[in-house]
Amino acid sequence: MTDTSSNQMWGGRFASGPDAIMEAINASIGFDRRMAAQDIAGSRAHAAMLAAQGILTDSDAQAIRKGLLTVLSEIEAGRFEFSAALEDIHMNVEARLKELVGEAAGRLHTARSRNDQVATDFRLWVRDRVDATDEALTALMHALLAQAEAGADWVMPGFTHLQTAQPVTWGHHMLAYVEMLGRDRARFRDARARMNECPLGAAALAGTSFPIDRDATARDLGFDRPCANSLDAVSDRDFALEFLASASICAMHLSRLAEELVIWSSAQFRFVTMSDRWSTGSSIMPQKRNPDAAELLRAKIGRIFGANVALMTVMKGLPLAYSKDMQEDKEQVFDAADNLLLALAAMAGMVADMQANRDVMAAAAGAGFSTVTDLADWLVRTLDLPFRDAHHVTGTLVARAEARGCDLPDLSLSEMQEVHPGITEAVFDVLGVDNSVASRTSYGGTAPAQVRAQIARWKEALA
Ligand code: ARG
Repeated sequence: MTDTSSNQMWGGRFASGPDAIMEAINASIGFDRRMAAQDIAGSRAHAAMLAAQGILTDSDAQAIRKGLLTVLSEIEAGRFEFSAALEDIHMNVEARLKELVGEAAGRLHTARSRNDQVATDFRLWVRDRVDATDEALTALMHALLAQAEAGADWVMPGFTHLQTAQPVTWGHHMLAYVEMLGRDRARFRDARARMNECPLGAAALAGTSFPIDRDATARDLGFDRPCANSLDAVSDRDFALEFLASASICAMHLSRLAEELVIWSSAQFRFVTMSDRWSTGSSIMPQKRNPDAAELLRAKIGRIFGANVALMTVMKGLPLAYSKDMQEDKEQVFDAADNLLLALAAMAGMVADMQANRDVMAAAAGAGFSTVTDLADWLVRTLDLPFRDAHHVTGTLVARAEARGCDLPDLSLSEMQEVHPGITEAVFDVLGVDNSVASRTSYGGTAPAQVRAQIARWKEALA
């Protein structure tokens, strides 16, 4: 694809074309062709504005509009021949437009530069992905809510340090992730509102002497307003960084859930059974059902973090305004966006299909002295013991049960009374896991009544 003659778009002052290696390092068409639709939308808005301002004749604007639509359909049909010699999507589109409509094509670049063009295309692309991510997040939240609703009162062990702590409900655990994803959604929306300013018309860096209407192009492309500083407009990539930062936090949440699914689906836990659709077998050990999707999801998250660090690093030392370094922004964002959407879709599928094993979780919920805090609270409430003393009494009872190799409810009343004479039969009520979770009715607590109230709140919020 190397062309020995100078570049047809900017080669006026060049005697020869670039070295093949120069072309390889310089060309971005291999990846920025993904912004073809955005590039053409930007050009259409620009041409329409130029005509409305009398900078372009109506007949030229018509020709450009028709030509751009043809280019778009060629690209969508896979009939477009991309050329590395033409470097990027902007020049590939323009060169083809010239073949189609002749001289008018050369007038399209009036009052703009590839610098504001690429900034506009990329914002539009990221904005589309923010919207797609929002949808995918919402779908996953619905899948989690369905699980929460089915098991609002199913008990399971709650953990700290991955050691049994206190019983919680399955619904409560599912809702914890709904909260995280809800914040993720808010972060993306927040970023979207900030990124929704149009760089087009900033031209190379300083604005233009042509009487353009930046409000018109901004409106046409669905932006709230034009960027207010032309230097900032062409050199800002905060919108991509905010996307990656929001994506990183969201990915971290997905990875935590993936990790829980890996643990829960193990033979040792068996809290959940992953469906066949989201499991794989082993070629040597026939008993195995591996949670590969959860594992891959957990691993893919690294690419998203990596993209965030990579782009921060690209940007951190750049003087104003545009530098070619900024061409390295796209592949990172494309990859992160693709993998985030894939991860969200995989997680939504796994969550929708997985089956929580209610009995296994209930049995585990009662083991490991999970209700000792309830016992301590009971001593405080019923016998008016200071919490510290109650904690001590309970600790002694745990030690006794441990010595006998049984759980707390298996101790007899008289054994308990040896530790504290005030204990009565009523204590056995608080040692049961169902009573334990039902009692935690504080706002945001694990009681099924609270869980159901939060499910209702989220359903309304997502409706
Ligand atoms: N392909 C370039 C990019 O992605 C487009 C902008 C080129 N601008 C320039 N002055 N060379 O950043």
